[in-house]
Amino acid sequence: MTKPRVAVLISGRGSNMMSLIEAAAAPGFPVEIAVVISNRPDAHGLARAQACNIPTRSLDHKAFPDRAAFDAALDAVLEEEQVTLVCLAGFMRLLTSGFTQKWAGRMINIHPALLPSFKGLHTHERALAEGVKIHGATVHFVTAEMDVGPIIMQAAVPVLEADTPDTLAARVLAQEHVIYPAALRLVAEGRARLDGARVAIDEFEITPPALVVPPAP
Ligand code: GAR
Repeated sequence: MTKPRVAVLISGRGSNMMSLIEAAAAPGFPVEIAVVISNRPDAHGLARAQACNIPTRSLDHKAFPDRAAFDAALDAVLEEEQVTLVCLAGFMRLLTSGFTQKWAGRMINIHPALLPSFKGLHTHERALAEGVKIHGATVHFVTAEMDVGPIIMQAAVPVLEADTPDTLAARVLAQEHVIYPAALRLVAEGRARLDGARVAIDEFEITPPALVVPPAP
């Protein structure tokens, strides 16, 4: 049986992309990573995907007159590649509402914060500045508004007294790599269903929809 074809969209180093590629390589994972697309031709993740024999496409956003033209080209690539699910993995570009509507329920994103806190950029710096004691990452369905959308899975990590943005980012990133493949599996298997503004999780047996990672000893 052929598996649903997933596109992973990146802009940079692609560590979350790698976590999806590695998960999908395991027997029994319900999707195939069909293509990796970057809006930056120099994204390091492109070479990493190629090293795993995943087809890549580069769509330089600077070559398009506006967001609508870029999104139309992106949509054309997704159709051409017969993609049914899209994973944004460090894809640092706003998408038009037409595009997000077309892919509603079929496009997910990972964000390095416990949404709805700390939408946008520099989440780790802002978490430290606010003095929060718990931080984390969220996988959610993409809607027209940036970093807003029904939450599929979250991981929470402690914020330690000695943390810098880099040490906190590393702790969060390790959990991103756990929850993104797990959330993709739930969506692909039809076990994470959109239910209005929230996500209903069916028959949850394998990984909890929320991970709470204990502080380091
Ligand atoms: C990740 O931390 C991801 O959560 C974040 O960018 C990083 C990309 O790293 N995404 C966002 O901030 C989107 N709002 P990666 O390229 O190594 O996966």
